[in-house]
Amino acid sequence: MPQITVVRAGEQHSGEVPDNANLVVRAGIKKFPFPHLKYGCGMGKCTKCTSRVIAGAEHLPEPNWKERERLGAKLDEGYRLMCQLWLTHDLTIEQE
Ligand code: FES
Repeated sequence: MPQITVVRAGEQHSGEVPDNANLVVRAGIKKFPFPHLKYGCGMGKCTKCTSRVIAGAEHLPEPNWKERERLGAKLDEGYRLMCQLWLTHDLTIEQE
């Protein structure tokens, strides 16, 4: 099961999630990483779930069209939309 760490406001929050979990879907049903993850629409539109990947990016799929459209050059800086990712490996992310 993937081990997820969310860094926000200088604090680290870690927990395990089931294989193939989507962090925004989980937060929506009040499971970890709730309440530490900032999110909104869950559909790749609002960009509120934007997170910078600190570790584990090599296991993520290529950005989809929504991520490319919304994040543009920020993709090169390591940012991803958490609502567009289903996780199968450990991941550490930071939200501003
Ligand atoms: S929650 Fe709105 S873009 Fe991810």
